[in-house]
Amino acid sequence: MKNIPFLYACILTIVFGCEAGKEKTDDLDAETTPTENHRPQFHFTPPRMWMNDPNGMVYHKGEYHLFYQHYPDSTVWGPMHWGHAVSKDLMRWEHLPIALYPDSLGYIFSGSAIVDKDNTSGLGTRENPPIIAIYTYHDEDVRRSGRNDFQTQGIAFSTDEGRTWKKYEGNPVLNNPGIEDFRDPKVFWHEGTKMWIMILAVRDHVEFYNSKDLKHWEKSGEFGKAEGAHGGVWECPDLFSLTIDGDQTQKWIMLVSINPGGIHGGSATQYFIGSFDGKTFTNKNPASTTLWVDYGKDNYAGVTWSNIADDNRIFLGWMSNWQYANVVPTEKWRSAMTIPRTLHLVNTPSGIRVGSRPVVEIATIRQGTEELASGEINGNIPLTDIPFDVSTSEMLLEFELADENVDVGIELSNEKGEKLLVGFDAAQNSYYIDRRNAGKKDFSDDFAGIHYAPRVLETSSIKLHLILDVASAELFADDGTAVITDIFFPQEVMTNVSIFSKGGRVNLKAGRITRLASIW
Ligand code: FRU
Repeated sequence: MKNIPFLYACILTIVFGCEAGKEKTDDLDAETTPTENHRPQFHFTPPRMWMNDPNGMVYHKGEYHLFYQHYPDSTVWGPMHWGHAVSKDLMRWEHLPIALYPDSLGYIFSGSAIVDKDNTSGLGTRENPPIIAIYTYHDEDVRRSGRNDFQTQGIAFSTDEGRTWKKYEGNPVLNNPGIEDFRDPKVFWHEGTKMWIMILAVRDHVEFYNSKDLKHWEKSGEFGKAEGAHGGVWECPDLFSLTIDGDQTQKWIMLVSINPGGIHGGSATQYFIGSFDGKTFTNKNPASTTLWVDYGKDNYAGVTWSNIADDNRIFLGWMSNWQYANVVPTEKWRSAMTIPRTLHLVNTPSGIRVGSRPVVEIATIRQGTEELASGEINGNIPLTDIPFDVSTSEMLLEFELADENVDVGIELSNEKGEKLLVGFDAAQNSYYIDRRNAGKKDFSDDFAGIHYAPRVLETSSIKLHLILDVASAELFADDGTAVITDIFFPQEVMTNVSIFSKGGRVNLKAGRITRLASIW
């Protein structure tokens, strides 16, 4: 038996067609309140109800499309739909009607989208190439019946800039060989073999499939059974090439989310660096090496936009963790996405690493900057002169360590005595976010904690780049080579900020705090 919300969605679609979906979404928009508790002001959030992974991210005709795992009938996970929004600048989003509803083949789980420029699928025309979404069908009835082949891959297409979608009548395009976890297809065009490649998460590894028309897929290889982290199920893979900064060497990067078994428990995203010839991915690091995209607890299922010029890889993650995503203390909606990030490859003393930085488009929401006076810091210095609310801001601080074993950081707080600490711990040679006393935490034993990211550079200055948005902190330390993303739920907005040193003096070389505007 399908559960009631699933049936409800189906009946609506059958009886009213697409218009029903539209009306429903408009109603939800009408009830949206940007001042709701913990509501981010410039991060993407669904207007109402549940959201998890970003899906189908594709750039087309001047618009960034963002689809997302969505359950429109509840604030907890349920039968999955693809919610939809578009943006011209990756910052301000226009919410569109739900793009994909569950159907007789199942719920619509995560997947990707591409522009089929040469109309290889025949689902559009050369003059008007279709956008094709490739996603997982999850058949809950089949799962409950005890069978293990309940996840298959389907496609849907749009020839009107993503505004309406049709499911392909020959679905599923890839059947399940009898494996429980068989999902989250990311598809891209591989110029070398002139093939579409699908990378698919299959329990404890990824598999590669190729196709000439996006409708017929053949398995060509697999990777990972004995590589990287294996404390949980592999999900939401991505595969693309990037050139190392300041070098012409090209590497292939594979992102693989894992849950549980993440760096700090629960969900996290690991990556591999290597080469790929269309069939085989060769890891350049020892199999036991595990590298993490983000060392916070709240960046999961992140993948990159397709159809953007090579070497410009824009990444977006879901800013939550399956350990507590369903119970975080928000009321009308659940979860936000990370700030969109540009990925880059950098040579460090520890080897090649993937770094992340907020996309340059963040400049479009900057609204007034305060420069901090440089000089010595010894202890805690409250910044009382900032003429705007720092709970939605960007901070760039660069410290020169004068004494060894000195910690430096930023303290955010409110009148309730709640504190969020973001800094550098010299003894551990690591950056950290400490949310142990940053607000509500009783909703989950797995929530409160301090999350460290090892420092990979050996420069003498400590560089903090922090993005704060009411209920989230994203730290891009050392030019994005140590990244930590954590959400937090203060009982009152944190509007006090101070800079501190602990255990000695430090020199603040440069500091800047910028107000970031609300997109509401
Ligand atoms: C990752 C994930 C995917 C799946 C989707 C279901 O968070 O579990 O593997 O497709 O969420 O909503």
